[in-house]
Amino acid sequence: MNKILKEPDPGADFRRQWSRQNRYALGGDLLPDESSTLERDTSVILRQAGTNPPWLAMRAGSGAFLESVTGQILLDLHGNNCHHVGYAHPDLTAALSWQMREISFVPRGVTNPEVVVAAEKLLAAWPYGPGVVAFVPGGSAAVELAIMLCRAHTGRYKLASFYGAYHGRSAGALSLGGRPRDRAPRLGPLLPGVLHVRPFFPLPSEREFDAEAGARRSLQDLAYCFEQEGDIAALFAEPIRNGPFRPPDWYWPEVRALCSRHGTLLVSDEIPTGLGKTGKLFVTEHFGISPDVTLIGKALGGALIPVAAVIAKAELNSTADLNLGYFTYERSPMMARAAATILDIIAGEELVARAAELGAAALKRLRAVAALRPAIQEIRGAGLMLGLQAYDLAGGGHDALAHRIFQECLRRGLLVQYPMGARLTLSFPLRVDRPLIEEAIDVFAAAVDAAVAVGEG
Ligand SMILES: Cc1ncc(COP(=O)(O)O)c(C=O)c1O
Repeated sequence: MNKILKEPDPGADFRRQWSRQNRYALGGDLLPDESSTLERDTSVILRQAGTNPPWLAMRAGSGAFLESVTGQILLDLHGNNCHHVGYAHPDLTAALSWQMREISFVPRGVTNPEVVVAAEKLLAAWPYGPGVVAFVPGGSAAVELAIMLCRAHTGRYKLASFYGAYHGRSAGALSLGGRPRDRAPRLGPLLPGVLHVRPFFPLPSEREFDAEAGARRSLQDLAYCFEQEGDIAALFAEPIRNGPFRPPDWYWPEVRALCSRHGTLLVSDEIPTGLGKTGKLFVTEHFGISPDVTLIGKALGGALIPVAAVIAKAELNSTADLNLGYFTYERSPMMARAAATILDIIAGEELVARAAELGAAALKRLRAVAALRPAIQEIRGAGLMLGLQAYDLAGGGHDALAHRIFQECLRRGLLVQYPMGARLTLSFPLRVDRPLIEEAIDVFAAAVDAAVAVGEG
């Protein structure tokens, strides 16, 4: 398990500073942002719910850590699920520095060895081959391309997805998404023909959720929808919902069989969860099923460059008469070099096995912490993605408590994912080690205690 500790270990300096900061400045307020980056950001960057105004400004990233413009070190358990190999991994920065000088771009219709190598590596790792790959500049673009591919290949236009799902921000991806706040009437009509069914995971508003009964109902809804509609091109779904929410083991084999019976393609969206985060390189490997299309993104660019990929079974390679991608950066040597290097790092450092092993240890520790703290419940884990629910016994509101925990984490140098209602997600990069995980969970426990004390005070 020590394969990765080559010198200099990126993030080692930040790690020392972070531990020192925790020891001596627990609970310290964030320092004022003298560069006023936050303020200036708000006046020039498009206002958007959820991301603007931002809550922090960073100036450096190394390993598992970020440094704020005010000099605080934060352990990043958010990373938008892009930071599997941490920030500034030396192999990745070296590969892209070289690539940038050698050949950074090719115009449309021209290829290069990097893109071929990256596709070959992806297909060699994808257990469902033979297949083909399309590289695209981001997750939403991957979803969009997959929608077109499935429609064109089947000659059907209807698509199915889950209520409560998220698949990105472009028009097709938003249509597949099933979160009410993403479907604001002001955005106008989205894609026709998208059918939503009950998910196997809880909606943010559902506090009590029985995974077994929920999955059973979801399967019944899907079966009913498929029977009534008949001609659905594809089901788009995250096999483990970011959060993480994992259905019972029987669920996906049943859904796969249902799709096959109805000639509906199964698209596995693994954009946040793929590439080892959950303890398997591809999430569908947990369930022994074979999707028709897999989507990966985020960590494929190593938190360095945006790149995503659509991997499809070879029989779907049937659209030679159409332009589905045609992206300006579709064969970018930089994107391809990043993807190939990430796959090499993940394989060479055995990060998938590491995520499975350390994830199990992290889950155990978080459960032990939660056993003493009724304020955190429903502890979930899939590899190095952990999730939980805040529970406010003082009556001030579960969502408000989750928000206070988030704030108290920030004050202690822990950046966790922004709460979704009362639910919080901790997404560890895959190069962390056991002592760092333990320290992080202890800091998290202290943040929970402080958040509860504020609520009672
Ligand atoms: C499941 C899922 N699909 C698609 C996307 C869209 O990816 P991107 O933000 O790179 O467009 C996301 C992003 O969070 C996602 O979580």
